Amino acid sequence: MALAWWQEAVFYQIYPRSFKDSTGNGIGDLQGVIDKLDYLVELGVDAIWLSPFYPSPMNDFGYDISDYTDVDPMFGDLETMDQLIAEAHRRNLKVLIDYVPNHTSDEHAWFQESKGSRDNPKADWYIWKDAKSDGSLPNNWGSIFGGPAWTWNEERQQYYFHQFEPTQPDLNWRNPDVKDAMLDVVRFWLKRGIDGLRMDVVITIWKHPDMPDQPIIEDASGRAENDIFGKQEQIYSMHYDGIHALIREVRDTLDEFEDRVMIGEIWLGLEERLTYYGDGDEFHMPFNFDLLGGTSVVDPKEWSADYVRTSVDRYEDALQTSQWPNYVLGNHDVHRVATRVGEGQARLVAMLLLTLRGTPTIYNGDEIGMINGDITEADIQDPQGKRLGIHMTRDYSRTPTQWDDSDLAGFSPEGTASTWLPITSDYKERNIKAQMSDENSLWTLHQELIAFRKTSPALLSGVYQSFDSPEDTFIYSRQHDDEHLIIALNFNNQEKSIALPLQGEMVMCTHNNSNVVSSDGVVTLEGNQGIVIRVN
Ligand code: NOJ
Repeated sequence: MALAWWQEAVFYQIYPRSFKDSTGNGIGDLQGVIDKLDYLVELGVDAIWLSPFYPSPMNDFGYDISDYTDVDPMFGDLETMDQLIAEAHRRNLKVLIDYVPNHTSDEHAWFQESKGSRDNPKADWYIWKDAKSDGSLPNNWGSIFGGPAWTWNEERQQYYFHQFEPTQPDLNWRNPDVKDAMLDVVRFWLKRGIDGLRMDVVITIWKHPDMPDQPIIEDASGRAENDIFGKQEQIYSMHYDGIHALIREVRDTLDEFEDRVMIGEIWLGLEERLTYYGDGDEFHMPFNFDLLGGTSVVDPKEWSADYVRTSVDRYEDALQTSQWPNYVLGNHDVHRVATRVGEGQARLVAMLLLTLRGTPTIYNGDEIGMINGDITEADIQDPQGKRLGIHMTRDYSRTPTQWDDSDLAGFSPEGTASTWLPITSDYKERNIKAQMSDENSLWTLHQELIAFRKTSPALLSGVYQSFDSPEDTFIYSRQHDDEHLIIALNFNNQEKSIALPLQGEMVMCTHNNSNVVSSDGVVTLEGNQGIVIRVN
């Protein structure tokens, strides 16, 4: 069966603020993305997903949108976006945008109108409730960013609901006018030529109509004092009955246009997450965060070959034939993969990501193994970090992309006063320019793996099978017609010898070694080494 473009593609997430600053204000922008499209072609990726670039007061760095159908002047304008789409398409790159349906900014005209009175045309576009008779909050729900999920509004003398910051009021999707307006947003961008959507926090959009108190988790030790959300079971606000019908409507809207793709940000356990494929009528791909840790980030102590094999096997077993897999190793909400798994394993996980079955997504900067930024308390910009503490801040993975070893790492033009987050101090050694000219670099390994994947039917569409292997190793095969590959990964930092299930010759290696396969089919892998073998 021929694959769709998004099944063959390698996706690349761009966090526009941190990618490339073309103006010298210390913040990345859309012209910066355009300037780097040739770079992306050289790396070999096929599709970019842009985190939000819409007008926004930037309390949540663009995930608080004050106009869904425009571009923040900080990033450019609609014309720049049109140009970006055209220039990307000219290079055969697809463009996905972030669709943020759960909430707007409190500066959105809809909210400004809504808060004005209890009977204006948009009065019911957000979730408003009276205080309880004793003046207390309408229910016990907490915000994901810490504190209660309700904020008092003087004008209306009511509380409004916000699953995130108080500056991010939740839209009321039970109001058909809201739904229509939000589906029109989808149409607006699809008409402009984008190739798909990454839909933000899908599962919170549809809540219990009466919003009863959530049950309390008795043992929530380790949670910050104000982490009300983390101490509750979100049974009335997440993955709530009715959500699927809504997703189907968004998908129907997407399907008014040809050949587009819809990806969902869904932090749920495997079983629940897979329901978001629907009957092929919801998401093409609900993001698979298992390699991040499913519903949070994998505790580094638990990261092991066994952990990885178990999550991949469970996923593969659970997927139906029509459900296309995907893998994510990093994004703008979690610590850098090179920091999470350790720099020594950055090469190994690149091979993992690019040889598993399904669409891989690379987070910008991970192709050179950018590590967590040098963030101090004083540097914290992220609202989650401000409320829940430095260990919860997402600034670590949002520091400027390290393009070269010049003063501002090639992120901002020379003379720029400062960048919105500090440039990580290792940029003199770890930068894209240096790695592109080094045939042994992590960047070159990414380029080679992507190129190999493109020409390999087994990697693009072959079946996956894993094999029992010595502790700390993970062995699997990918097979399509007469192409049969074995991938052997050593997650230990010491040498490991593995008897291969099948004989063959090495075609890719994480560490540019000469053939490490002996004649009797035993392979001796160095610490953190991975290889791809073509079965004879
Ligand atoms: C998920 C996004 O990935 C995250 O960055 C954002 O803060 C929340 N959604 C709220 O929009």
